[in-house]
Amino acid sequence: MSKKGNILSGMRPSGKLHLGNYVGALENWVALQDQYQNYHLVADWHVLTTNATQPEKIFQDSIDMVIDWIGAGLDPSKSPMFIQSKIKEHAELHLLFSMLVTVNRLERNPTVKEQAKELHLEAIMSYGHLGYPVLQAADILIYKANLVPVGEDQAPHVELTREIARRFNKLYGNVFPIPEVKLTSFSRLPGTDGKKMSKSVGNIILLSDEPDVILKTLRKAVTDPQKVRKGDPGRPDVCLIFNYHEKFNSDETGKIAQGCRSGALGCVECKENLGKKLIDFLEPFRKNFKYYDNRRDDIIDILKDGEKKAREVAQETMSDVYEAMNFG
Ligand code: TRP
Repeated sequence: MSKKGNILSGMRPSGKLHLGNYVGALENWVALQDQYQNYHLVADWHVLTTNATQPEKIFQDSIDMVIDWIGAGLDPSKSPMFIQSKIKEHAELHLLFSMLVTVNRLERNPTVKEQAKELHLEAIMSYGHLGYPVLQAADILIYKANLVPVGEDQAPHVELTREIARRFNKLYGNVFPIPEVKLTSFSRLPGTDGKKMSKSVGNIILLSDEPDVILKTLRKAVTDPQKVRKGDPGRPDVCLIFNYHEKFNSDETGKIAQGCRSGALGCVECKENLGKKLIDFLEPFRKNFKYYDNRRDDIIDILKDGEKKAREVAQETMSDVYEAMNFG
């Protein structure tokens, strides 16, 4: 089948993935891998922006994350996956791109601003942290990606990538496509406390969580605060459990909304029901995770193979780049 174009996407390796990672991006990677030529990178250099002090953890976290990618259906024979820092050309292209973007433009990036605020880095942000979206632009454009499936917090970086690609093309000649962002229909799944799903907050469900852990986590999850006990009428539109039903139990949402509103359906039962659906949904993934967890060397081989394929493309793009620039 002829491909519609190239996809590049990646994630920072933070170990095992949670439902938000899946629903926000990975689901799209898997869904699109037959239509596009996909490349997927483990963004290990990106981790250093916020965590430069513990580089020794990054490799194992990378393997854990790739196990989850593959276990959730990403097929390495179709979609090369590799570690960013192994392809030095990304750093080289980042250097060239860094001349094409102003500091002021980088300071206006809402995702970087939010991160700075969350981590209290406003006055002490590193040069590398401020510039990581430029590295991301290099990650994307070195594979001449047409489409970038990511979570919505990454959309500003794709916008910057488009600007850099246009600027490069205008200055030196047409080398890069102008990539589009691709969000999932559920680009934000809240954590079990109703806030953004995040490992550091502890409001997550991992793709690899065992059934009893999933049920326990759901029991503690917040619901509509006005619905205190069964019989009270609830408001599905403000309830995060209903939000989860929409994603993982879409056939029953009509019935659930009605039961919740009338009070006939209590939160305990509603959560049990969701838990079962979620456990069923994750069951095939969980089997795959266990399989690969015992074969971590296979994952290393898969990454090496991906690296070879990625390097070839990256080197070719760098020749195009220098040729267009009449450089050297
Ligand atoms: N910044 C992304 C994240 O925090 C990871 C990333 C690095 C990425 N390079 C990329 C995502 C290129 C998409 C495309 O998860």
